[in-house]
Amino acid sequence: MYHEIDLDKIDRNAEPPAEEPDRQYYFMAKCREWVREFEQKNGRRPCFFTQTFGCQMNAKDSEKLSGILGKIGYVEAQTEDADFVLYNTCTVRENANKRVYGRLGQLGVQKRKHPEMIIALCGCMMQEQQVVERIRTSYRFVDLIFGTHNIFQLAELIWRRLEQARAVTEVWNGTEQIVENLPAQRKYPFKSGVNIMFGCNNFCSYCIVPYVRGRERSRSPEEIIREIEALVKDGVVEVMLLGQNVNSYGKTLEQPITFAQLLRQIEQVEGLERIRFMTSHPKDLSDQLINVMAASSKICPHLHLPLQSGSSRILERMNRRYTKESYLDLAFKIKRAVPGISLTTDIIVGFPGETEEDFLETMDVVEQVGFDSAFTFIYSKRTGTPAAAMEDQVPEAVVKDRFDRLLKRVQEIGARVSGCQLHTVQKVLVEEVNDHDASLVTGRLGNNTLVHFLGSNDLIGKIVDVYLEEFKGFYYMGAMR
Ligand code: 5AD
Ligand code: SF4
Repeated sequence: MYHEIDLDKIDRNAEPPAEEPDRQYYFMAKCREWVREFEQKNGRRPCFFTQTFGCQMNAKDSEKLSGILGKIGYVEAQTEDADFVLYNTCTVRENANKRVYGRLGQLGVQKRKHPEMIIALCGCMMQEQQVVERIRTSYRFVDLIFGTHNIFQLAELIWRRLEQARAVTEVWNGTEQIVENLPAQRKYPFKSGVNIMFGCNNFCSYCIVPYVRGRERSRSPEEIIREIEALVKDGVVEVMLLGQNVNSYGKTLEQPITFAQLLRQIEQVEGLERIRFMTSHPKDLSDQLINVMAASSKICPHLHLPLQSGSSRILERMNRRYTKESYLDLAFKIKRAVPGISLTTDIIVGFPGETEEDFLETMDVVEQVGFDSAFTFIYSKRTGTPAAAMEDQVPEAVVKDRFDRLLKRVQEIGARVSGCQLHTVQKVLVEEVNDHDASLVTGRLGNNTLVHFLGSNDLIGKIVDVYLEEFKGFYYMGAMR
């Protein structure tokens, strides 16, 4: 957790410290000096804009990056018309890459008008060598490239860019290091993501994540608890524990502990009201975890349990290490142990070799489990993954047809399942004033379903009782009690 550091007390003329995070504080201090000079020259402070692509891990990383930029003295801008523009990229599917290239093209036009602006790219896409090469040759105006393993170095890299006045690329292949105690700028005052582990060791055959996020590393329970305690002191009532596969948390620690044990410790934090976590791999979900969830009043009754496919044959080719039957057993066991729990999932359509029969197995699991919602994805070929080399890739038209059928069913079932709390009073954490109607506020039930009801912005961050009056397909309209 970050303790406020006085950058002015750092000797900026000394050699940079070798140890982290002191080294980064030193470079933050150097950059801040530059910011002061900028301010004197231009009569304003430089501003930054960040855009995050992809998952909650990336969102959390962006909060850290914004925290560093804020500490240096940059102010946040709402558009790309800024002195420093940073894209935190995602590469899980090809579409994510395409979006980044599209936005970069526009940014190039902007930079021609403002040549002094600094453009930085980081995140998962940058861990792919061919991406970095393409940017270096086709988007030469990019000033700074770094990856997922060294985001903590942002201040050092900015300083290097300012000093040498030419592009900087620093991408690491991996790291054992977890640098703690850096600043972060939280998006919401009342809820926060908390990294509990980084990386993934599963190597599902379609997935690029293990290659771009590296091997599994868990944070120590002490660091996690310390961070959560500080967050709670700062007004946070809900935490989302983040990891690619939280169920294997703690296995690589010097003193191994399980995810269930970690949850028990986190529950003890006084003032913390809600605990969520993401993502769970079905193969590692223990009975111990189910018991902890069932007994807890703080752990939210929601489990995101990616299915990917309902066909045991495809699951094997995906290297998922569970079968249709074991997934169903697990889902039913959880539903029995935690009545009313909301189950959500991820499904991939069109994995190489998927036949109509395989697809119907997926549909069958969807019918049997009754997911509250499902993220459905068209299989995207990721260079370097085992699935990319598999023959019998499924024709696009077939995939599209299956995708449409699946989406329709998932939505119908979701509308039925998540409406089952109608006409009950439930606790809602109020998150924001409604986008479309300012007389309403929007919040979430413990199981993550959205609720809109009459209220004003002083309710934001509070947990209130709401009567669920009407169900509208995937959200409720309610009234405060
Ligand atoms: N193609 C399509 N979807 C993918 N996912 C991961 N890799 C791919 C891919 N190559 C999906 C999985 C995962 C989610 C985060 O993204 O469903 O659970
Ligand atoms: Fe990718 Fe599988 Fe790891 Fe999830 S568990 S990040 S799908 S390799």
